Amino acid sequence: NIFPGRVNSMGVDLADPVVRRPMLDRLQELNEQVWAAAPTVLAGSGGPVREIRSPFDRSQVVGTVLEAAPEDVDLAYKRAKEAQPRWDALGGLARADLLDRTADLFEENMAEFISICHREAGKNIIDGVLEVREAVDFLRFYASEARMLFAAPLPLPGPTGEENRLGLYGRGIFASISPWNFPLAIFTGTMAAPLAAGNTVLAKPAAQTPLVAALATRLCHEAGIPNDVLQLLPGGGDVGGRMTSDERVSGVVFTGSVGTARAINRSLADRDAPIATLIAETGGQNAMIVDSSALPEQVTRDVVASSFQSAGQRCSALRVLYLQNEVADTMLDMIKGAFEALVIGDPRDMSTDVGPVIDEDAREKLEAHVADMQAKGFKVHRRELPEGLENGTFVAPTIIELDSIHDLDGENFGPILHIVRFDINELEEVIEDINSTGFGLTMGLHSRIDATRRRVEAHVKVGNFYVNRNQIGAVVESQPFGGEGLSGTGPKAGGPNYLARFATERVTTIDT
Ligand code: SER
Repeated sequence: NIFPGRVNSMGVDLADPVVRRPMLDRLQELNEQVWAAAPTVLAGSGGPVREIRSPFDRSQVVGTVLEAAPEDVDLAYKRAKEAQPRWDALGGLARADLLDRTADLFEENMAEFISICHREAGKNIIDGVLEVREAVDFLRFYASEARMLFAAPLPLPGPTGEENRLGLYGRGIFASISPWNFPLAIFTGTMAAPLAAGNTVLAKPAAQTPLVAALATRLCHEAGIPNDVLQLLPGGGDVGGRMTSDERVSGVVFTGSVGTARAINRSLADRDAPIATLIAETGGQNAMIVDSSALPEQVTRDVVASSFQSAGQRCSALRVLYLQNEVADTMLDMIKGAFEALVIGDPRDMSTDVGPVIDEDAREKLEAHVADMQAKGFKVHRRELPEGLENGTFVAPTIIELDSIHDLDGENFGPILHIVRFDINELEEVIEDINSTGFGLTMGLHSRIDATRRRVEAHVKVGNFYVNRNQIGAVVESQPFGGEGLSGTGPKAGGPNYLARFATERVTTIDT
């Protein structure tokens, strides 16, 4: 461990009936609850009000969101600017204690979070538990880092009679703009890190998932983080645009598309203000290579998890599977067998493996991709959607056989796996093809041959390389997460170098 004594959250053991029963009862009760999200402070009567409907059944209203109006964004900046010096001066130790206290409250509200993740984001129960665990881990990990980096300045050497020290301080105000696919974990990680470093934070959750973020923000405030230090600004791209074009913003931490990251970068550059930091985590075209030495059962399990867990809506998810020619037919048959057994349905059912995709827009894009591939003559294997899901935005899990990764035009963010067959004598060309997409987030390899592992590892340009396992579910501290190239700027979330990027460094030299 980087921090001896710190351990990641254990979550809940749903295999244990003594734990499972009360959790399922509580989730049942929470099914009827109506949630609300709004800016934490309003300058007037706020912006538009929208209903949030369940992706698994659009007739179900989960809650309402009052979006931030332009004057709310302005007021939030005023309050954040005033509060920042006080929050910075509080010091790393006190800020860390508040983040730890928040983590405890998150764990106490596990069922509430899982319920909103089901109903607002269509996450199944396992994914809901993982959301809470990752959020808690981010809070405690950044708290530990704050204690190490921000408690006291670092003494530096110098000649006799000279004292040198390096201190880290908050940069100012950070805008945190987070995605719907990890509506709790990434929302939490990207507000906790700048807070830990002494910044005040304006947090904008994705337009689709403000309700879980509103509960998270409320618990942060209950834990003692002042409500002018962390402010919630629900809304869509217009609210995000206002946040990132404001002259008062010192940095933006963003997860989403490359296009939006570029737009944010331009908007920050165009301001008549100091150059702001941009930490962006963007898409991927993640591949896995499987050679003939791999264990077929393990490959099957790991491919299915990497492609279809969370309905394929993870940045890390496997999109293009390369199968060595000699084993491709056997492997594909086994993968199809496991794929046929996936349970598609209401994410609130314990047995559901694949829930809906986030919204109609996502469903339409994925269906258009499948239709396009079919029209181009590629072989497509699809699951039938079970009856009774017509009110939801479900996409049938799909496998498409391609000739090359270049048959794809960008990332398809859903339960679609593409297969490419390859000749082992052309392994270098395969790696070259994968790298040439320009993305560099995750990559998987299944091989029992050390020399192959070394060859691949030496040439891949990805942030997270997984060997003989699935390629999703990076764990805080164990697998710091984030890509390179078109996949992001770094530093890696949940890693030792993350927090310092939210800080500014000051050196004091004293002639004693
Ligand atoms: N951190 C997530 C994962 O590793 C990102 O999608 O799966």
